[in-house]
Amino acid sequence: MDCPSDWLEPIVRVQALSDSGRPMIPSQYIKPLSERPSFNIQSDSVNIPVIDLYELINSDATSQKAIMDQISIACREWGFFQVVNHGIGHELLGEAQEVWREFFHQPMEVKQDYANTPKTYEGYGSRIGFEKGASLDWSDYFFLHYLPSNLKDYNKWPSQPPSLRSVTEEYANKITSLGKIMLKVFSINLGLQEDYLEGAFGGDDIGGCLRANYYPKCPQPDLTLGLSSHSDPGILTFLLSNEHDAGLQVRKADEWIAVKPAPHAIIVNIGDQIQILTNGIYKSVEHRVVVNPDKERVSFAYFFNPKNEALIKPAAELVTSAKPALYEPMTFQKYRLVIRTKGPQGKFQLESLKSPR
Ligand code: OGA
Ligand code: NI
Repeated sequence: MDCPSDWLEPIVRVQALSDSGRPMIPSQYIKPLSERPSFNIQSDSVNIPVIDLYELINSDATSQKAIMDQISIACREWGFFQVVNHGIGHELLGEAQEVWREFFHQPMEVKQDYANTPKTYEGYGSRIGFEKGASLDWSDYFFLHYLPSNLKDYNKWPSQPPSLRSVTEEYANKITSLGKIMLKVFSINLGLQEDYLEGAFGGDDIGGCLRANYYPKCPQPDLTLGLSSHSDPGILTFLLSNEHDAGLQVRKADEWIAVKPAPHAIIVNIGDQIQILTNGIYKSVEHRVVVNPDKERVSFAYFFNPKNEALIKPAAELVTSAKPALYEPMTFQKYRLVIRTKGPQGKFQLESLKSPR
């Protein structure tokens, strides 16, 4: 099924629900028991790895190797890590979060001018899956296209606050460079040519999308989620989240681990397309967001995605007779349709792509 041209159910802004001050959340936001925040044991003593990129960016080959090894271990064991000294100025990181917080604090009429539809998702939205009855989460968002540049349309980006467009542009430009460095490091760590991953995912036509997530205060945070468990469908995600705002949790075995962002860190996680291309050597990891009764939260995600038409399949170099191709080839355009239909559903989709044997 293609994405419909408009939402199939009336859109309710979670921010408006939160501002109404009602003590109970509507039933569509109530999760089954096993998905609720308190169901699985949560470990508070561990955090995802924090990797200092200073030597990678500024140093000679020997020092770079040590950092690349840390990245290799983090990719194999976690699929989720934070980077510090990544070369992006602290001031820009702060501004990128602040302009989007200001956007969500504008009057509802202003935001409604950017209301999105499932055709492109670009704009102000309050649900991911378009299907009737898809899971609803306690968040609103703003989604926009950055790459390839023919999809970038400033007119669809908020015009207020005044610096939003320039700050978003500068931030996205910096993250694009960091993403290319990461793809190079991953390629080398996997024993591939250094430009392998970038090329396989579409080279100059690689996609880049941004989503500012807004998680309003929630009167019954134990019953719902800000974002249900999912793995990111694309290549790689870079997430900006204030060090004082907890909420993101990563699944490790059967435990949910709360991510504690380091100051000025950027959180990096592997998406499904890397799991497919590396034939499962690197895995995308399930994550979710819990909400808070007296604190809102804004996060800002940059998703690297394959070129829509590129056929993504396990790299021939990583397929052996002992480890045959685990996944069937599929274009990203087709792959992405599943999360856009049903909303976030753990790793259901990737599992269903497994080759029959
Ligand atoms: C996402 C996501 C996490 C967060 O946007 O895909 O997982 O903390 N966001 O907002
Ligand atoms: Ni995600």
